[in-house]
Amino acid sequence: MSTSPLADLPHETARLLEEIAALASLEQLRDIEPSILGKRSVLSSLQKSLGVLAPEDRRDAGAQLQGARRVVEAAFEARRSDLAALARAALLESDRLELGDVVVNAVRWPASVGHPSLVAVTQRELEDVFVAMGFTVSEGPEVESDWYNFEALNIPPAHPARGMWDTFYVELGEPETVVLRTHTSPTQVHLKEAAALHGSLPIHAVMPGRCFRRDTPDARHLATFHQIEGLVVDRGIAFSDLAGVIETFTRAYFGPDIESRLRPAFFPFTEPSAEFEVTCTICRGAGCRTCSQTGWIELGGCGMLDPAVLDAVGIDGDEWSGFAFGFGIDRCAQMRHQIADMRALIDNDTRFLRQFS
Ligand code: PHE
Repeated sequence: MSTSPLADLPHETARLLEEIAALASLEQLRDIEPSILGKRSVLSSLQKSLGVLAPEDRRDAGAQLQGARRVVEAAFEARRSDLAALARAALLESDRLELGDVVVNAVRWPASVGHPSLVAVTQRELEDVFVAMGFTVSEGPEVESDWYNFEALNIPPAHPARGMWDTFYVELGEPETVVLRTHTSPTQVHLKEAAALHGSLPIHAVMPGRCFRRDTPDARHLATFHQIEGLVVDRGIAFSDLAGVIETFTRAYFGPDIESRLRPAFFPFTEPSAEFEVTCTICRGAGCRTCSQTGWIELGGCGMLDPAVLDAVGIDGDEWSGFAFGFGIDRCAQMRHQIADMRALIDNDTRFLRQFS
């Protein structure tokens, strides 16, 4: 008789709870979060192993696993709030002002007026690079219908490619029809639609904005992040035009020392598709924690527009062709400023933020 994939679950759950209880600081908690709740955690691999079960067993096992996950998540959140309270108390204690400090601070007022965040500054810089190359800048909504985020991009309902984007749904209308956009690609669709309607092709545009995914944050990922989308629709566009734009961008933004490469990839809306990577600026290609020892950091995806996505908005794919790309703005900031852990961008630690004023 084969043993159930969940035979170890009680033991694993107990081990995770012990590990959580032993966490001594918010930093430790943060470092360990992906391995406890993320895609490569024990619970996630157990989830995958349920595939071997007969359907009737899978349901019970799934429920059992869900139960264990809820217990672990609750313990994790409880530990997070305990550690946060401890950290706050310690900070209050160390920041306690003596009478003399208050006088000094009062004299120096106004000490600080703040400044745009590093991500906002990076967005402007990226826009500048592309404007210099002849692109216009457009923005689109952060809440989209399923049509803009998926269907018009050649991703029909229930298509397996949807798994590439862990989606947050908004409770509006029919279930799972309104989403927080998982990428800036829906803004491409708005632009192509408007150009088809007004007969205003060609398009050479970049579209920056905030995106959302149900991801566990780690050194390279945030659940709320930023992308800059690029779109060219014109006559006689070739892959070499795309490669040229990417190379020109890399040199302009990162300087001549940073290498970039395109690797074959898959996106439902482009064919052929590629992933765009640059040398990890933290280890200069030697391999480190930030780049998972690969020496390279993926900045985004790109490819030639699949004729189906031109068709979807009524643009004649025989006459027009083009390419698109989508890069992480936060990743660009991270690589440009050698930030080992991207979560520093949202920690609101003024000692970190002040470096970029
Ligand atoms: N939207 C894709 C993503 O976020 C990136 C991409 C954009 C790929 C444009 C190809 C063309 O995963």
